[in-house]
Amino acid sequence: MTHMMTILGIETSCDETSAAIIQDDKVLSNIISSQSVHLQFGGVVPELASRAHLKKIIPIYQEALDTAGVSQHQLDGIAVTCGPGLVGALLVGVNFVKGLSLATGIPFVGVNHIEGHVYSNFLEAPHPRFPFLCLIVSGGHTQLVVIKEHLTYRLIGKTRDDAVGEAYDKVAKLLGLPYPGGPEVDKLAQRGNPSLVKFPIGLEKSKTFDFSYSGLKTAVLNFVQQLSEEERKAHLADICAAFQQAAITALVSKTLRAAKTYQLTDIAVAGGVAANSLLRKMLTEEAQNQHCRVFFPSIQYCTDNAAMIARAGLERLKAGYSSNFSLNAYPSIQLGEEIQ
Ligand SMILES: Nc1ncnc2c1ncn2[C@@H]1O[C@H](COP(=O)(O)OP(=O)(O)OP(=O)(O)O)[C@@H](O)[C@H]1O
Ligand SMILES: [Mg+2]
Repeated sequence: MTHMMTILGIETSCDETSAAIIQDDKVLSNIISSQSVHLQFGGVVPELASRAHLKKIIPIYQEALDTAGVSQHQLDGIAVTCGPGLVGALLVGVNFVKGLSLATGIPFVGVNHIEGHVYSNFLEAPHPRFPFLCLIVSGGHTQLVVIKEHLTYRLIGKTRDDAVGEAYDKVAKLLGLPYPGGPEVDKLAQRGNPSLVKFPIGLEKSKTFDFSYSGLKTAVLNFVQQLSEEERKAHLADICAAFQQAAITALVSKTLRAAKTYQLTDIAVAGGVAANSLLRKMLTEEAQNQHCRVFFPSIQYCTDNAAMIARAGLERLKAGYSSNFSLNAYPSIQLGEEIQ
Protein backbone atom coordinates (compact mmCIF):
# COMPACT_ATOMS: atom_id res chain seq x y z
CA MET A 1 0.00 0.00 0.00
CA THR A 2 1.35 3.43 -0.89
CA HIS A 3 1.65 6.09 1.74
CA MET A 4 -1.24 8.58 1.92
CA MET A 5 -0.30 12.19 1.38
CA THR A 6 -1.62 14.65 3.98
CA ILE A 7 -1.61 18.16 2.55
CA LEU A 8 -2.40 21.53 4.09
CA GLY A 9 -3.89 24.13 1.73
CA ILE A 10 -3.84 27.88 2.39
CA GLU A 11 -5.91 30.39 0.41
CA THR A 12 -5.82 34.18 0.95
CA SER A 13 -6.06 35.62 -2.58
CA CYS A 14 -9.12 37.83 -2.02
CA ASP A 15 -11.59 38.14 0.84
CA GLU A 16 -11.75 34.57 2.13
CA THR A 17 -9.19 33.32 4.65
CA SER A 18 -9.18 29.56 4.24
CA ALA A 19 -7.19 26.55 5.44
CA ALA A 20 -7.88 22.92 4.58
CA ILE A 21 -6.44 19.48 5.20
CA ILE A 22 -6.78 16.75 2.60
CA GLN A 23 -5.56 13.17 2.65
CA ASP A 24 -5.03 12.18 -0.98
CA ASP A 25 -8.31 13.30 -2.58
CA LYS A 26 -10.33 13.15 0.64
CA VAL A 27 -11.16 16.45 2.36
CA LEU A 28 -10.68 16.19 6.14
CA SER A 29 -11.38 19.86 6.84
CA ASN A 30 -12.04 23.02 4.84
CA ILE A 31 -12.35 26.10 7.05
CA ILE A 32 -13.44 29.32 5.34
CA SER A 33 -13.69 32.70 7.02
CA SER A 34 -15.40 35.26 4.79
CA GLN A 35 -14.46 38.84 5.61
CA SER A 36 -17.51 40.91 6.44
CA VAL A 37 -15.57 44.19 6.74
CA HIS A 38 -16.10 44.86 3.00
CA LEU A 39 -19.92 44.72 3.05
CA GLN A 40 -20.34 48.40 3.92
CA PHE A 41 -18.16 49.36 0.92
CA GLY A 42 -19.97 47.25 -1.70
CA GLY A 43 -16.69 45.64 -2.80
CA VAL A 44 -13.36 44.36 -1.50
CA VAL A 45 -11.02 46.99 0.02
CA PRO A 46 -7.48 45.58 -0.50
CA GLU A 47 -5.79 46.92 2.64
CA LEU A 48 -8.67 45.78 4.85
CA ALA A 49 -8.47 42.34 3.21
CA SER A 50 -4.75 42.01 4.05
CA ARG A 51 -5.30 43.07 7.65
CA ALA A 52 -8.20 40.65 8.11
CA HIS A 53 -6.10 37.78 6.70
CA LEU A 54 -3.26 38.66 9.08
CA LYS A 55 -5.62 38.48 12.02
CA LYS A 56 -7.32 35.23 10.97
CA ILE A 57 -4.66 33.09 9.32
CA ILE A 58 -3.26 31.34 12.42
CA PRO A 59 -6.60 30.60 14.13
CA ILE A 60 -8.03 29.30 10.83
CA TYR A 61 -4.96 27.07 10.34
CA GLN A 62 -5.36 25.68 13.87
CA GLU A 63 -9.06 25.10 13.34
CA ALA A 64 -8.31 23.19 10.13
CA LEU A 65 -5.89 20.87 11.99
CA ASP A 66 -8.32 20.37 14.91
CA THR A 67 -11.31 19.63 12.68
CA ALA A 68 -9.26 17.15 10.64
CA GLY A 69 -7.84 15.52 13.77
CA VAL A 70 -4.37 15.91 12.31
CA SER A 71 -1.32 17.33 14.06
CA GLN A 72 1.24 19.57 12.44
CA HIS A 73 3.99 16.92 12.27
CA GLN A 74 1.73 14.63 10.23
CA LEU A 75 1.68 17.04 7.26
CA ASP A 76 3.57 15.82 4.18
CA GLY A 77 3.29 19.07 2.22
CA ILE A 78 1.77 22.54 2.09
CA ALA A 79 0.08 24.23 -0.88
CA VAL A 80 -0.41 27.99 -0.92
CA THR A 81 -2.13 30.30 -3.39
CA CYS A 82 0.53 32.66 -4.78
CA GLY A 83 -1.59 34.33 -7.51
CA PRO A 84 -3.61 35.67 -9.19
CA GLY A 85 -5.29 37.94 -6.65
CA LEU A 86 -4.68 40.97 -4.45
CA VAL A 87 -0.96 41.29 -3.82
CA GLY A 88 -1.22 42.27 -0.16
CA ALA A 89 -3.72 39.49 0.51
CA LEU A 90 -1.59 36.85 -1.24
CA LEU A 91 1.53 37.92 0.69
CA VAL A 92 -0.11 37.03 4.01
CA GLY A 93 -0.68 33.41 2.96
CA VAL A 94 2.67 33.02 1.22
CA ASN A 95 4.60 34.45 4.14
CA PHE A 96 2.69 32.36 6.69
CA VAL A 97 3.51 29.19 4.74
CA LYS A 98 7.19 30.12 4.44
CA GLY A 99 7.37 30.61 8.21
CA LEU A 100 5.59 27.30 8.84
CA SER A 101 7.94 25.50 6.45
CA LEU A 102 11.00 27.14 8.00
CA ALA A 103 9.93 26.03 11.46
CA THR A 104 8.95 22.46 10.51
CA GLY A 105 10.91 21.54 7.39
CA ILE A 106 7.69 20.57 5.58
CA PRO A 107 7.99 21.13 1.79
CA PHE A 108 5.63 23.65 0.19
CA VAL A 109 4.47 24.58 -3.28
CA GLY A 110 2.97 27.76 -4.74
CA VAL A 111 -0.36 27.13 -6.52
CA ASN A 112 -2.20 29.19 -9.11
CA HIS A 113 -5.64 30.07 -7.71
CA ILE A 114 -7.33 29.27 -11.03
CA GLU A 115 -5.64 25.86 -11.13
CA GLY A 116 -7.16 25.39 -7.69
CA HIS A 117 -10.64 26.13 -9.10
CA VAL A 118 -10.03 23.51 -11.82
CA TYR A 119 -9.03 20.96 -9.18
CA SER A 120 -12.20 21.55 -7.17
CA ASN A 121 -13.53 19.00 -9.68
CA PHE A 122 -11.18 16.36 -8.22
CA LEU A 123 -12.33 16.64 -4.60
CA GLU A 124 -15.29 14.28 -5.00
CA ALA A 125 -16.12 11.27 -7.12
CA PRO A 126 -16.87 10.93 -9.92
CA HIS A 127 -14.42 13.29 -11.54
CA PRO A 128 -13.79 14.08 -15.19
CA ARG A 129 -11.54 11.85 -17.28
CA PHE A 130 -8.72 13.25 -19.40
CA PRO A 131 -8.84 14.85 -21.86
CA PHE A 132 -11.66 17.16 -20.82
CA LEU A 133 -12.95 20.66 -21.43
CA CYS A 134 -13.04 23.06 -18.49
CA LEU A 135 -15.26 26.13 -18.33
CA ILE A 136 -13.74 28.48 -15.76
CA VAL A 137 -16.26 31.08 -14.56
CA SER A 138 -15.43 33.27 -11.59
CA GLY A 139 -15.22 36.86 -10.39
CA GLY A 140 -12.09 37.54 -12.42
CA HIS A 141 -12.06 34.87 -15.14
CA THR A 142 -14.19 33.47 -17.96
CA GLN A 143 -12.20 30.92 -19.93
CA LEU A 144 -12.50 27.70 -21.89
CA VAL A 145 -9.51 25.42 -21.44
CA VAL A 146 -8.68 22.00 -22.88
CA ILE A 147 -6.99 19.84 -20.24
CA LYS A 148 -5.21 16.84 -21.77
CA GLU A 149 -3.55 15.59 -18.61
CA HIS A 150 -2.77 16.76 -15.08
CA LEU A 151 -1.34 20.30 -14.89
CA THR A 152 -1.47 21.05 -18.64
CA TYR A 153 -3.76 23.75 -20.00
CA ARG A 154 -4.59 24.91 -23.50
CA LEU A 155 -6.59 28.13 -23.53
CA ILE A 156 -9.12 28.13 -26.40
CA GLY A 157 -11.35 31.06 -25.41
CA LYS A 158 -11.68 33.86 -22.91
CA THR A 159 -13.64 37.01 -22.15
CA ARG A 160 -12.64 40.10 -24.09
CA ASP A 161 -13.86 42.44 -21.33
CA ASP A 162 -15.70 41.64 -18.09
CA ALA A 163 -15.72 38.22 -16.42
CA VAL A 164 -19.19 36.69 -16.04
CA GLY A 165 -19.04 36.86 -12.21
CA GLU A 166 -18.05 40.52 -12.49
CA ALA A 167 -21.09 41.12 -14.73
CA TYR A 168 -23.33 39.50 -12.10
CA ASP A 169 -21.81 41.72 -9.39
CA LYS A 170 -22.15 44.91 -11.48
CA VAL A 171 -25.75 44.17 -12.46
CA ALA A 172 -26.54 43.45 -8.80
CA LYS A 173 -25.03 46.78 -7.83
CA LEU A 174 -27.03 48.76 -10.39
CA LEU A 175 -30.18 47.01 -9.17
CA GLY A 176 -29.33 48.01 -5.60
CA LEU A 177 -28.66 44.45 -4.39
CA PRO A 178 -25.98 43.70 -1.75
CA TYR A 179 -22.42 42.54 -2.57
CA PRO A 180 -21.45 39.93 -3.75
CA GLY A 181 -24.38 40.12 -6.10
CA GLY A 182 -24.07 36.84 -8.02
CA PRO A 183 -26.00 34.67 -5.57
CA GLU A 184 -28.63 37.43 -5.04
CA VAL A 185 -29.30 37.82 -8.78
CA ASP A 186 -29.49 34.02 -9.12
CA LYS A 187 -32.00 33.77 -6.27
CA LEU A 188 -34.27 36.50 -7.67
CA ALA A 189 -33.94 35.20 -11.25
CA GLN A 190 -35.41 31.85 -10.21
CA ARG A 191 -38.78 33.47 -9.56
CA GLY A 192 -38.68 35.96 -12.44
CA ASN A 193 -39.94 35.86 -16.01
CA PRO A 194 -36.99 35.98 -18.44
CA SER A 195 -39.18 36.96 -21.40
CA LEU A 196 -39.84 40.48 -20.01
CA VAL A 197 -36.99 41.70 -22.21
CA LYS A 198 -34.43 40.02 -24.46
CA PHE A 199 -30.90 41.11 -23.62
CA PRO A 200 -28.05 40.59 -26.11
CA ILE A 201 -25.89 37.45 -25.91
CA GLY A 202 -22.23 38.50 -26.11
CA LEU A 203 -20.38 37.46 -29.32
CA GLU A 204 -23.34 35.22 -30.23
CA LYS A 205 -22.41 35.00 -33.91
CA SER A 206 -18.63 34.89 -33.43
CA LYS A 207 -16.89 31.69 -34.56
CA THR A 208 -14.35 32.01 -31.75
CA PHE A 209 -14.80 30.65 -28.24
CA ASP A 210 -14.40 34.10 -26.73
CA PHE A 211 -16.95 35.77 -24.47
CA SER A 212 -18.05 39.37 -23.91
CA TYR A 213 -20.09 40.69 -20.98
CA SER A 214 -19.74 44.48 -21.10
CA GLY A 215 -22.49 44.93 -23.74
CA LEU A 216 -24.94 42.86 -21.71
CA LYS A 217 -24.21 44.89 -18.58
CA THR A 218 -24.78 48.17 -20.49
CA ALA A 219 -28.02 46.83 -21.99
CA VAL A 220 -29.32 46.06 -18.49
CA LEU A 221 -28.31 49.53 -17.32
CA ASN A 222 -30.08 51.24 -20.25
CA PHE A 223 -33.21 49.16 -19.73
CA VAL A 224 -33.34 49.90 -16.00
CA GLN A 225 -32.79 53.63 -16.51
CA GLN A 226 -35.92 54.00 -18.67
CA LEU A 227 -38.13 52.40 -16.01
CA SER A 228 -39.89 54.29 -13.26
CA GLU A 229 -39.05 53.48 -9.64
CA GLU A 230 -42.27 51.43 -9.30
CA GLU A 231 -41.70 49.51 -12.53
CA ARG A 232 -38.17 48.72 -11.44
CA LYS A 233 -39.37 47.34 -8.11
CA ALA A 234 -42.21 45.36 -9.68
CA HIS A 235 -39.94 43.78 -12.29
CA LEU A 236 -36.75 43.24 -10.25
CA ALA A 237 -36.95 39.43 -10.47
CA ASP A 238 -37.84 39.57 -14.19
CA ILE A 239 -34.83 41.78 -14.97
CA CYS A 240 -32.57 39.36 -13.08
CA ALA A 241 -34.09 36.42 -14.99
CA ALA A 242 -33.62 38.11 -18.38
CA PHE A 243 -30.02 39.00 -17.56
CA GLN A 244 -29.32 35.50 -16.28
CA GLN A 245 -30.84 33.96 -19.41
CA ALA A 246 -28.48 35.93 -21.68
CA ALA A 247 -25.40 35.51 -19.47
CA ILE A 248 -25.78 31.74 -19.09
CA THR A 249 -26.90 31.01 -22.67
CA ALA A 250 -23.57 32.45 -23.88
CA LEU A 251 -21.63 30.10 -21.57
CA VAL A 252 -23.65 27.00 -22.45
CA SER A 253 -23.66 27.45 -26.22
CA LYS A 254 -19.92 28.18 -26.50
CA THR A 255 -18.99 25.36 -24.16
CA LEU A 256 -21.02 22.78 -26.08
CA ARG A 257 -19.68 24.01 -29.43
CA ALA A 258 -16.11 23.80 -28.09
CA ALA A 259 -16.71 20.24 -26.83
CA LYS A 260 -17.93 19.28 -30.29
CA THR A 261 -15.06 21.02 -32.10
CA TYR A 262 -12.39 19.46 -29.89
CA GLN A 263 -14.25 16.11 -29.71
CA LEU A 264 -14.36 16.09 -25.93
CA THR A 265 -17.06 14.20 -24.03
CA ASP A 266 -16.23 15.29 -20.48
CA ILE A 267 -16.93 18.89 -19.46
CA ALA A 268 -16.02 20.32 -16.04
CA VAL A 269 -17.09 23.69 -14.67
CA ALA A 270 -15.00 25.63 -12.14
CA GLY A 271 -15.16 28.93 -10.22
CA GLY A 272 -17.79 30.82 -8.25
CA VAL A 273 -20.33 31.03 -11.08
CA ALA A 274 -20.33 27.20 -11.20
CA ALA A 275 -22.73 27.60 -8.26
CA ASN A 276 -25.30 29.25 -10.55
CA SER A 277 -28.61 27.37 -10.68
CA LEU A 278 -29.39 28.05 -14.35
CA LEU A 279 -25.86 27.12 -15.52
CA ARG A 280 -26.04 23.83 -13.61
CA LYS A 281 -29.46 23.02 -15.08
CA MET A 282 -29.04 24.26 -18.66
CA LEU A 283 -25.56 22.84 -19.27
CA THR A 284 -26.45 19.44 -17.77
CA GLU A 285 -29.64 19.18 -19.86
CA GLU A 286 -28.19 20.37 -23.16
CA ALA A 287 -25.01 18.31 -22.83
CA GLN A 288 -27.12 15.15 -22.75
CA ASN A 289 -28.27 15.78 -26.33
CA GLN A 290 -24.62 15.81 -27.31
CA HIS A 291 -23.77 12.73 -25.20
CA CYS A 292 -21.39 14.71 -23.01
CA ARG A 293 -20.90 14.24 -19.28
CA VAL A 294 -20.92 17.41 -17.19
CA PHE A 295 -19.19 17.84 -13.80
CA PHE A 296 -19.87 20.58 -11.27
CA PRO A 297 -18.11 20.78 -7.90
CA SER A 298 -20.55 20.76 -4.98
CA ILE A 299 -21.53 24.33 -4.03
CA GLN A 300 -19.11 24.58 -1.07
CA TYR A 301 -16.15 24.02 -3.43
CA CYS A 302 -17.26 26.46 -6.17
CA THR A 303 -16.22 29.73 -4.50
CA ASP A 304 -12.81 30.36 -2.95
CA ASN A 305 -11.64 27.64 -0.55
CA ALA A 306 -8.37 26.03 0.50
CA ALA A 307 -9.38 22.42 -0.19
CA MET A 308 -9.11 23.04 -3.93
CA ILE A 309 -5.66 24.61 -3.41
CA ALA A 310 -4.53 21.59 -1.39
CA ARG A 311 -5.82 19.26 -4.13
CA ALA A 312 -3.95 21.11 -6.90
CA GLY A 313 -0.86 21.27 -4.66
CA LEU A 314 -1.03 17.51 -4.11
CA GLU A 315 -0.85 17.00 -7.87
CA ARG A 316 2.08 19.45 -8.14
CA LEU A 317 4.02 17.83 -5.28
CA LYS A 318 3.42 14.35 -6.78
CA ALA A 319 4.77 15.64 -10.10
CA GLY A 320 7.95 16.82 -8.36
CA TYR A 321 7.26 20.54 -8.12
CA SER A 322 8.12 22.43 -4.97
CA SER A 323 8.84 26.05 -4.11
CA ASN A 324 11.68 27.61 -2.18
CA PHE A 325 11.88 30.62 0.11
CA SER A 326 12.10 33.02 -2.84
CA LEU A 327 8.43 32.28 -3.71
CA ASN A 328 6.60 35.57 -4.24
CA ALA A 329 3.03 36.81 -4.81
CA TYR A 330 2.05 37.05 -8.49
CA PRO A 331 -1.11 39.20 -8.75
CA SER A 332 -1.82 38.58 -12.45
CA ILE A 333 -0.26 35.20 -13.23
CA GLN A 334 -1.95 33.16 -16.00
CA LEU A 335 -3.13 29.55 -15.74
CA GLY A 336 -0.23 27.24 -16.67
CA GLU A 337 2.39 29.97 -16.30
CA GLU A 338 5.53 28.73 -14.57
CA ILE A 339 5.87 29.67 -10.89
CA GLN A 340 9.40 30.53 -9.75
N1 LIG B 1 -25.12 31.46 -7.77
C1 LIG B 1 -24.32 32.31 -8.42
N2 LIG B 1 -24.68 32.83 -9.61
C2 LIG B 1 -23.89 33.68 -10.28
N3 LIG B 1 -22.71 34.11 -9.82
C3 LIG B 1 -22.29 33.63 -8.64
C4 LIG B 1 -23.06 32.72 -7.87
N4 LIG B 1 -22.38 32.43 -6.73
C5 LIG B 1 -21.22 33.14 -6.80
N5 LIG B 1 -21.17 33.87 -7.93
C6 LIG B 1 -20.11 34.79 -8.36
O1 LIG B 1 -18.87 34.15 -8.31
C7 LIG B 1 -17.85 35.13 -8.07
C8 LIG B 1 -16.96 34.68 -6.96
O2 LIG B 1 -16.27 33.54 -7.41
P1 LIG B 1 -14.79 33.30 -7.03
O3 LIG B 1 -14.69 33.34 -5.55
O4 LIG B 1 -14.32 32.10 -7.71
O5 LIG B 1 -14.14 34.60 -7.71
P2 LIG B 1 -12.82 35.35 -7.33
O6 LIG B 1 -11.97 34.44 -6.52
O7 LIG B 1 -13.19 36.68 -6.80
O8 LIG B 1 -12.16 35.56 -8.75
P3 LIG B 1 -11.02 34.64 -9.43
O9 LIG B 1 -11.25 33.25 -8.98
O10 LIG B 1 -11.23 34.84 -10.88
O11 LIG B 1 -9.73 35.20 -8.93
C9 LIG B 1 -18.54 36.44 -7.74
O12 LIG B 1 -18.48 37.26 -8.88
C10 LIG B 1 -19.96 35.99 -7.43
O13 LIG B 1 -20.93 36.97 -7.69
MG1 LIG C 1 -11.69 32.46 -7.04
